Amino acid sequence: MNSTAMTQSLQDQTILITGATSGIGRITARELARKGAQVVIVGRNPDKTQSVASEIQRSTGNPRVAMMVGDLSDLSEVRRIAAEFLQRFDRLNVLINNAGAVFFTHRISTDGFEMTLALNHLSPFLLTNLLLERLNSSTPARVISVSSMAHWGAHVNPDNLNGSRTYWGWRAYSQSKLMNILFTRELARRVGSGVTANCLHPGFVATNFGKSNGGIFRPLWSLVELAAISPEQGAKTSIYLASSPEVAEVTGQYFVDCQPQRSSPESTNDDTGRRLWETSVNLTGLA
Ligand SMILES: NC(=O)c1ccc[n+]([C@@H]2O[C@H](COP(=O)([O-])OP(=O)(O)OC[C@H]3O[C@@H](n4cnc5c(N)ncnc54)[C@H](OP(=O)(O)O)[C@@H]3O)[C@@H](O)[C@H]2O)c1
Repeated sequence: MNSTAMTQSLQDQTILITGATSGIGRITARELARKGAQVVIVGRNPDKTQSVASEIQRSTGNPRVAMMVGDLSDLSEVRRIAAEFLQRFDRLNVLINNAGAVFFTHRISTDGFEMTLALNHLSPFLLTNLLLERLNSSTPARVISVSSMAHWGAHVNPDNLNGSRTYWGWRAYSQSKLMNILFTRELARRVGSGVTANCLHPGFVATNFGKSNGGIFRPLWSLVELAAISPEQGAKTSIYLASSPEVAEVTGQYFVDCQPQRSSPESTNDDTGRRLWETSVNLTGLA
């Protein structure tokens, strides 16, 4: 398909993307808007979200950029955002679960969950499920989750998601990114035909990731970041999965550099994926 056809094909697409106020999400939203899609960005800070929406409209010439605001680590906010989306938009062709963070100190969310679990797994799990009917009625539709190669080496116990005795921020982050892959594969098994679910590692990208952690972590992170790629490069696989006709029928896969790749053995354990889904249904109150 040539680029004109690609642009035309995105004009009837409505794309919802979380964490679109910074880094990979901001570039992904901008480039999908540039391809003509109606893009709905979710941010947690009203002024920042408005400023990013306006900047995307200005730089792409696409006026169809809408915004919604909420703290996605709070499940009641996830529910409110889902309800607002359903009320405002008739279609959902692509949902990009991009918002995420690493927390180097132990924090508890409004709902009483460990913060990484709440923001990186329970929030996209709940949002996707609340929007599933709209995805099903908008087919062809795609769900994309931004995971990470940090999932390698991680383990999850679906019967005790919230309960490590000692907290280590990187371990919690790796586990949450493993959950993104398990969630993607289980979602791909559960959704009806016409909806695909894929996830990705964006590369090591110079963004605001990790920078909200204070103390020694901030300067350390800035040093490590010298080896990172740009947000433009980091957004490529998200944009590809959201828009390329090449992956219209591909589902349940983990992508790196726009190519399907093997993920860890733990991430392809379908029994763990099924149990994680059931526990997450209970924790998010979907049951
Ligand atoms: N950077 C990397 O090297 C890398 C590698 C692998 C995977 N990833 C994944 O890529 C995704 C995007 O991260 P990034 O690198 O682009 O980081 P980033 O620049 O920090 O962007 C994270 C986005 O998530 C939003 N966010 C954070 N907490 C939120 C909350 N409680 N409620 C609502 N939104 C919230 C942020 O909002 P604000 O703008 O208000 O902060 C921002 O828009 C994450 O899932 C991350 O795990 C990143």
